[in-house]
Amino acid sequence: VVTRRADYTAPAWLVPEIALDFDLDPRRTRVRARLNVARNGAHDAPLRLDGDGLAPLAVRVDGVDADWRMDGATLEIALSGDAHEVETEVEIAPERNTQLMGLYASGGNLCTQCEAEGFRRITFFPDRPDVLTRYQVKLTAEKARYPVLLANGDPVASGDLDDGRHWAEWHDPFPKPCYLFALIAGDLAANRDTFTTRSGRDVEVAIWVRERDLAKTDHALHALKTAMAWDERVYGREYDLDVFNIVAVDDFNFGAMENKGLNIFNSRYILADPDTATDHDYDAIAAVVAHEYFHNWSGNRITCRDWFQLSLKEGFTVYRDQKFSADQGSAAVKRIEDVRTLRAAQFPEDAGPLAHPVRPDSYIEISNFYTATIYNKGAELIGMMATILGAEKFRRATDLYFDRFDGTAATCEDFVSCMEEAGEVDLTRFRRWYSQAGTPRVTARLVHEAGSGRAMLTLRQTMAPTPGQPVKEPMVVPLTVKLFGADSGREVAPEQLVLLSEPESEIAFESVGERPILSINRGFSAPVVVETDRSAADLGFLSGHDDDPFARYEAMQQLMLDTLVSSVQRGRGDHAPVIDAVRQTLLDGDLDSAFIAEAVLLPSDSFIGDQMAVVDPDAIFRAREALRRDLGRELEGEWREAYEAALANRFEYSPAAKGARRLKNVALGYINASGAPDAASLAFVQFEQADNMTDRQGALATLASGTSDKRVAALDIFYNRYSDNALVLDKWFATQALSSRDDTAQAVEELSRHKDFTLANPNRARSLIGAFAMNQRAFHDAAGRGYRFVADQLIALDKLNPQTAAKLLPPLGRWRRFDKDRAALMRAELERIVATPGLSKDMFEQASKSLD
Ligand code: ARG
Ligand code: ZN
Repeated sequence: VVTRRADYTAPAWLVPEIALDFDLDPRRTRVRARLNVARNGAHDAPLRLDGDGLAPLAVRVDGVDADWRMDGATLEIALSGDAHEVETEVEIAPERNTQLMGLYASGGNLCTQCEAEGFRRITFFPDRPDVLTRYQVKLTAEKARYPVLLANGDPVASGDLDDGRHWAEWHDPFPKPCYLFALIAGDLAANRDTFTTRSGRDVEVAIWVRERDLAKTDHALHALKTAMAWDERVYGREYDLDVFNIVAVDDFNFGAMENKGLNIFNSRYILADPDTATDHDYDAIAAVVAHEYFHNWSGNRITCRDWFQLSLKEGFTVYRDQKFSADQGSAAVKRIEDVRTLRAAQFPEDAGPLAHPVRPDSYIEISNFYTATIYNKGAELIGMMATILGAEKFRRATDLYFDRFDGTAATCEDFVSCMEEAGEVDLTRFRRWYSQAGTPRVTARLVHEAGSGRAMLTLRQTMAPTPGQPVKEPMVVPLTVKLFGADSGREVAPEQLVLLSEPESEIAFESVGERPILSINRGFSAPVVVETDRSAADLGFLSGHDDDPFARYEAMQQLMLDTLVSSVQRGRGDHAPVIDAVRQTLLDGDLDSAFIAEAVLLPSDSFIGDQMAVVDPDAIFRAREALRRDLGRELEGEWREAYEAALANRFEYSPAAKGARRLKNVALGYINASGAPDAASLAFVQFEQADNMTDRQGALATLASGTSDKRVAALDIFYNRYSDNALVLDKWFATQALSSRDDTAQAVEELSRHKDFTLANPNRARSLIGAFAMNQRAFHDAAGRGYRFVADQLIALDKLNPQTAAKLLPPLGRWRRFDKDRAALMRAELERIVATPGLSKDMFEQASKSLD
């Protein structure tokens, strides 16, 4: 069944109030719901309440047994008046809920996940985001087993019963869609604090975890308070309830969930201490805590009219969390990381069978649309509008948006129209970014006439067809551009913003006295691919001298990419310019370590593959390894110096210390690539002496990709040291799945039979299957071993948890990008998946669209 955006109609019935009464038990939970329903407009449609796996035990209207029927999973009730009180009763079994949608059990606790359509697995309700309801919730449960009972909003009352059970009542004064409903019953301890809002209200904030994890919650709590203050300062948004609770659970389908006043998190985005979490984990925790908190305004106070508008809240909220993180440390490095993520996750989406616009037109299963396109490309759209408007008008426009649409379910169009109105700009054509899928490709050619001193920049844009969109209209592409003089090295044309909105356009620069070098898409002002004909020498110059750090990084990446693609396609690429540029960057005393570490990293195997018409995973791997080895050998002294400079530091979580660790581990990788005889023991010493997980895992990753006799020892030591820590064991699985050894496919198959491997836990499933599918050479084993393994695992996982299974499918769908033998093997696995009896609609949508 396909749901289409064009078919949207307002809800026939609204539900201004609900009272929910939960009798909680893992085997049989009784849910009583009392809905005040109100006819919305003049019509005679019955009340239709969504359900999924529910059978009504009782249905009453205004206190008497009602006239109802089931239409498939939907409960249909004929109503005569305009307002009624509808009561239903159902029984559900959280402990048997392996999908982790609705009410389920995790680690002995009971918790919920309702976005997008999980509430219908809890009770009958119009499960759509434009039905906004005030919730009153009563929870009753066995006190010894579930001493803590939490729900949305503010606590209003609680008490004990004489049969060993207890109860708590919560009231959420803000009307909300049911996808924001949440409850928790569990044996949890809290790390508590108070946040005083700028208007002087005290908010009790708390992070709830297992007692033994309490010591790992300080970082998340600190991030939360920092985010609360940041949203006040940067967007003028204050928190609005007396309490804000965060709960961490081990079994969770994605990162976290912004339920009103009760965020529920995958524990990997809460728990951190130096011994078990990497710097990357610390950063991700702060980003996700901030993201979910920011949703209180961009998501909850203003929600989505329908799920086609998902990017309204997700794109904007990602944009907000990215800027928050940029403000906590190096903005340049954060931008580089965000662009790397976009290129690794979103560009391939745009280039593949699952390409969809930021505001999709149709879906079979909405869960499949929580994608990098909706999230990360969606954030880039907001960023482009911010660039076009400028900071001041952008803030005026978001103020207008928050003010005008507070308390409503809005659309992407509503947001853009606020940008237009407060920004005093015409965004008519810009809106194509919401409706057209695909990554624009911009070709830039710069021609200089020495005589007249005129430089002409010709920009051309094209966009390849995507499924269902054979013809594309030109986009509005904001490109920041600047020219440097090839002789003087100085600026010869200042930075300017070019809005490319035609298929082709020319920009003239006057009084350019020397040959200019083009710096373009500075700061990555537009999420496009830019093709230039800049020489290795010019890229080398920019990588050493551009004053925009992103453009500097980009020039280095382009230089590396050109070299690698030429090695793959012509068998030989000139390594010397790359080696020179890397040396120059390494030795530049003005650069911080974090930036250097990012800049000297080679593009990934898969990003190299993305540049080629037909991906040759083995040739790419060989070319990249050869360049790594040369960089390692030629700059061995520099790598060792960088490595040793960072050695003495003791652990500290600060931008400078993080940067030093990052560069240290990159240097360790290059020393290993050089083939130096002491490389493995250097890694092993780091592994054993590390006082933090970044260094320990960094060394382990290096060893795990190598052939030294230290490899097995390190893996065993790591396993034994952390065998009771699920999040660290995930790293142990992922590190091996990402190994560049020849036997990785086989090793991963064996790991899938390890006693600690289970498909029931999404983090564990992703740590092995998800990581392996990212390992281009191993996954694309020419005999199809990797494809078969992943398909087997996904078929098994689909029976337990269709959402998580479907999320892992896209790598198998990229068959068009590979040679015909691999393509045939990949298709065969997709066909096998589609033919599986009882396949979920989640998997069906992903696999069948990938075959088309
Ligand atoms: N709204 C959550 C967040 O981004 C994620 C929910 C994901 N839901 C899903 N069905 N995939 O913060
Ligand atoms: Zn979100």
